[in-house]
Amino acid sequence: MLRFSMMNFRFVILIAFLVWSSDNASCIATQQKQWRHRKANAPILGQSVSLLDSGATFNVLSYGAKGDGRADDTKAFEQAWTAACVVEGSTVLVPSGSVFLVRPISFSGPNCKSKIVFQLDGKIIAPSSSGGWGSGLLQWIEFKDLKGITIRGKGIIDGQGSVWWKDNNPVEESDENNSAEDLQIYTDAAGGMPSTKPTALRFYGSSDVIVTGITIQNSPQTHLKFDDCVGVQVFSMSISSPGDSPNTDGIHLQNSQDVVIHSTSLACGDDCISIQTGCSGVYIHNVNCGPGHGFSIGGLGKAGTKACVSNITVRDSSLQNTLTGVRIKTWQGGSGSVQGVMFSNIQVSGVEIPIMIDQYYCDGHKCPNKTSAVAVSGISYQFIKGTYTSKPVHFACSDSTPCSGVTLTTIELNPLQEKNRLEEPYCWQTFGELRTSTTPPITCLRTGNPSNKYVHNSGDSC
Ligand SMILES: *[C@@H]1O[C@H](CO)[C@@H](O)[C@H](O)[C@H]1NC(C)=O
Ligand SMILES: *[C@@H]1O[C@H](CO)[C@@H](O)[C@H](O)[C@H]1NC(C)=O
Ligand SMILES: *[C@@H]1O[C@H](CO)[C@@H](O)[C@H](O)[C@H]1NC(C)=O
Repeated sequence: MLRFSMMNFRFVILIAFLVWSSDNASCIATQQKQWRHRKANAPILGQSVSLLDSGATFNVLSYGAKGDGRADDTKAFEQAWTAACVVEGSTVLVPSGSVFLVRPISFSGPNCKSKIVFQLDGKIIAPSSSGGWGSGLLQWIEFKDLKGITIRGKGIIDGQGSVWWKDNNPVEESDENNSAEDLQIYTDAAGGMPSTKPTALRFYGSSDVIVTGITIQNSPQTHLKFDDCVGVQVFSMSISSPGDSPNTDGIHLQNSQDVVIHSTSLACGDDCISIQTGCSGVYIHNVNCGPGHGFSIGGLGKAGTKACVSNITVRDSSLQNTLTGVRIKTWQGGSGSVQGVMFSNIQVSGVEIPIMIDQYYCDGHKCPNKTSAVAVSGISYQFIKGTYTSKPVHFACSDSTPCSGVTLTTIELNPLQEKNRLEEPYCWQTFGELRTSTTPPITCLRTGNPSNKYVHNSGDSC
């Protein structure tokens, strides 16, 4: 009894103090100290003090993180998160000047307050021995079921992926959370690492997500992934891993809407940005890609699945020495559609195939011919300029469901060197329009629309 009334008393004093200090900026530091001292009681406080949507800060060092790059700081991160979670608009601080070793971790709602900021100024590294990973996980750092979550700062997330990249024997599997190329199961992974390679940073089921300022590097697999998210902004950040690191996508989007990615630099061993099924309203601009495999929509429709992607814009961006530039890839046998895509003002330099639609996408295993396909329509390419090393344009559309509404305006693609002038633009079952003359001339596009005999396949409109 005595203890309770003491706590209530202290609680009332604290509230009085906070109310008194609320419009006094110089008191914020003191206020934060209060929060830190109260951490043991934080859940009690948090439940009662939701009126307090202040800038309370929870520094991982105050929760016992060592930050020496060797000690396991996972618990401290979990505790700082638990404390921040109950305070609207709070900040978890990962301070600069320290390196934090953190095992797989999930920062999750749905009972967390909204608008939490994860201020990352220091460096977070992943365990590089198998011990930290159990039998294998899909992600290392996860933010899940949150409303209004921001990661910002000058810090680094380093997946220490090189131990995962050796001996690459992919055998793909699929589940509802994972698209065609998403989940890679590896047999005989090197160094005794588990066979499933994790994504470095994954957001799941969240809205109003911002990622800015930080660097994500050397992920075992995809660097940054958004799945089932609405309202995503990624800007002024960078992603980097070696060009020969396998399956290290830069940014991977799936089942997400209203996504803006801009002013960002991506270098990796797979697609710089990969847009998968369920995405619409994606706007990408001022992004640099290279090395990597380019900006890709797909592969969609694997194993007879339905895929829906619409309203995608990529503009004012550049690529250097990548496998493809702007690409749409679908597997045979799928259904659904990709529609309303604009690629505008894209500068390519030494890109193998700058413009590509491949409806016969196959990962090297046997891919039997199928009649159905994910329908591709309303794809516009404008102001795509620069140099290629293999082929300027490659459109391989489905026999049963040809591509339609493919328009090209001001395309100027030249071989990087004379010896690269080997292949002409290629089109198969591609209908659309040249709005200007192009370099090189593209004579293989079929004008108008595919005849009605094709338009019966739309029982599965998106
Ligand atoms: C998909 O991912 C979410 C979040 O990680 C998880 O809760 C759910 O169980 C997963 N579904 C499957 C089928 O793995
Ligand atoms: C397309 O997406 C953009 C965001 O990228 C959005 O502002 C716009 O309203 C969308 N348009 C349609 C027709 O859905
Ligand atoms: C699949 O279709 C392509 C193009 O029509 C053809 O060249 C190829 O022989 C076919 N493959 C099989 C296994 O039927």
